[in-house]
Amino acid sequence: MPSVVIVGAQWGDEGKGKVVDIFAGSADVVVRFQGGNNAGHTIVADAKKIIFHLVPSGVLHRGKTCIIGCGVVVDPEVLLGEIDALKAAGHLGEATRLLVSENAHVIMPWHKALDQAREESKGKHKIGTTMRGIGPAYEEKAGRRGIRMGDLLRKKAFLGRLRESLDEANFMLEHRFGRKPLRAQEIADAYLAHAARLSEYVADTTVVLHDFLKKGRRVLFEGAQGTLLDVDHGTYPYVTSSSTVAGSACAGSGVGPTVIGGVIGISKAYTTRVGGGPFPTELSDDTGDLLREKGAEFGSTTGRARRCGWLDVVALRRAVLVNGLTDVAITKLDVLQGLKKVKICTAYRLKGKTITEFPADSEALAACEPVYDEMEGWKDDIRDVRLMEDLPRPVQKYLKKVETLLDVPVNLVSVGPARQETIITKNPFR
Ligand code: IMP
Repeated sequence: MPSVVIVGAQWGDEGKGKVVDIFAGSADVVVRFQGGNNAGHTIVADAKKIIFHLVPSGVLHRGKTCIIGCGVVVDPEVLLGEIDALKAAGHLGEATRLLVSENAHVIMPWHKALDQAREESKGKHKIGTTMRGIGPAYEEKAGRRGIRMGDLLRKKAFLGRLRESLDEANFMLEHRFGRKPLRAQEIADAYLAHAARLSEYVADTTVVLHDFLKKGRRVLFEGAQGTLLDVDHGTYPYVTSSSTVAGSACAGSGVGPTVIGGVIGISKAYTTRVGGGPFPTELSDDTGDLLREKGAEFGSTTGRARRCGWLDVVALRRAVLVNGLTDVAITKLDVLQGLKKVKICTAYRLKGKTITEFPADSEALAACEPVYDEMEGWKDDIRDVRLMEDLPRPVQKYLKKVETLLDVPVNLVSVGPARQETIITKNPFR
């Protein structure tokens, strides 16, 4: 099984960073294939908390090649900040390579300005974006006006593209949103300085990736956000602007589906969501507050409090389908400890009917009431458990139930934030 994709099976923040970090130890290459610095992967290594937004989570392992693929949108300033921080912490030395696709699109200052202006103009219907310019950057890419990493390195071409795209963006900023226009010269100076520093990282990463694959090397594709934020399969329009599902690993890095050997979906033992949009199992009571506090459910990118609720198997089953999940990893199981009862949503009630399929339409989803299976909770601390069979009986029952309802095996359970606080039943690379 040479290549494995890891994706979020919920609305993001499932703890993908930790799982990628663990399996990256067995991989040779780690690739990010979509999204941008709207993502935030927190990893606890050697008791230090490190948050990545752009650089693949595998970067903490020596000797790996980390690739930011063509499907990612890159904010050069953020990338440089991460490179500097990693170097200062003793990572990203000679043995670890970081490469950025020359075809990856660049997030420009007007993308951030437009993201902000558009959100503010929407009032209570806002998406609740991360304001990182992600949506406008993907819009420009699809509109064939975007600037790519390779363009940044060609000064004349870059300046031409900058003027063309900025003209249009300034028109929108001034005349649609009543904002100040941005100045081309300032942007050009800043971005050309970034380009000079980033040039050593920019490459035709498709060729690099295929060289590795030809040699039988193991590639780990690291998804960002989650399935339910996918622009096609998520709760549109309350989604991000990229394709977050496993199939996107191919388009976003330049490989065919035939190279993918397995797909791991990550799910918390409960559900969270940041920003607007329907969320059937959301809890606006003490249990919701408890999950938020105990699970430290505050965004690693924006610091926003996350909405919390019970595990939703109806939504997860959609993630199983659209990603072709071969395994499921359950994270943050320790957070449920101490609850008398734990609930799993197994169906929805919609207009007097019980349904077990996740509605494709967000309005219908918003009208759904969850139908729960209630299970016994557990008192014992499970953070030191390293084997499935050593978990308390109610925890084993809970996991068995999830496996049965999803019809997909659980290959990893996270029982605490640290790398070692993990139960692994199957390493996809072994
Ligand atoms: P955008 O990706 O910044 O355009 O935001 C669109 C929606 O996706 C908002 O609801 C964000 O809160 C959500 N979102 C984007 N990135 C993440 C993430 O990494 N984790 C969780 N939610 C995210």
